[in-house]
Amino acid sequence: MSYSKESIKLNNGVYIPSIGFGTSLVTGDECIKVIKMAINVGYRHIDTASAYENEVEIGKAIRQSNVKREDLFITSKVWKDSMGYDNTLRSFENSLKRLDLEYVDLFLIHWPKNGDEQLNIDTWKALERIYKEGKAKAIGVSNFLKHHLEIILNNCNVVPSINQIEFHPGLIRKETIDFCKRNNIVIEAWAPLGKGKMLNNETLVNIAKKYNKSVAQLCLKWCLQNDVIPLPKSENVERMKQNLDLFDFTITKEDMDIINNMEFFAGSDMNPDTFN
Ligand code: A2P
Repeated sequence: MSYSKESIKLNNGVYIPSIGFGTSLVTGDECIKVIKMAINVGYRHIDTASAYENEVEIGKAIRQSNVKREDLFITSKVWKDSMGYDNTLRSFENSLKRLDLEYVDLFLIHWPKNGDEQLNIDTWKALERIYKEGKAKAIGVSNFLKHHLEIILNNCNVVPSINQIEFHPGLIRKETIDFCKRNNIVIEAWAPLGKGKMLNNETLVNIAKKYNKSVAQLCLKWCLQNDVIPLPKSENVERMKQNLDLFDFTITKEDMDIINNMEFFAGSDMNPDTFN
């Protein structure tokens, strides 16, 4: 599989696999099974968060797999109720303990706190410390819009490497994406299939047919061609494999434009300006 060779260089020189595996909503023994399956079919980039309540299981799955720690890219995130300098440091140490790892590859602020810029800055300063101590190879944010990011950039020493946002056909936050590109911040897409809601979209069904690919593959390749790292989720081994099988076709510029200009549709109702 060519997938493992595909990676993107972040603004601090760290390489990140260009497709990740999303793990929200999978917990307990099922989580151990799903993550082992995902690693077995070729995923090397796994995205979790303290809020997903599956870090213990993900740690177990990693140790039960045959893949070396250094060949995996593991992300976790600090949740909204643990923001602020000291709380974030504590929350990070708890994530490391639950994962039973010595470091994570990427650590993110899960959501910005609206109306409390200082809290976002203090949380970021804790991430900078974690990064400088080598306990996270890269740091970034999640669900930050342009205006949230501007505050961080105006008050930080380390520029975030990543911004993970909801991104799928019908939901392109162009202003935020353009800002990130200008500042060398790579975008990761959560819900790249619009939480599965884009799979029956007529425009996408018609385009996917031309390439003899599924709508899911079209959505994921569209992310890659927009330089966005998709984090698809699946509990089904065939669909997991399908979601990695993206490297034998290219979406034409004309079709990219059609998808880029699709009517607004949000797969979730989690708006970064109101979700506090
Ligand atoms: P399943 O776990 O049964 O495969 P998103 O990543 O946007 O949150 O979407 C996740 C949803 O999309 C899940 O319900 C998942 O179901 C489904 N899904 C993931 N990959 C595919 C695929 N290749 N084809 C169809 N459905 C998929």
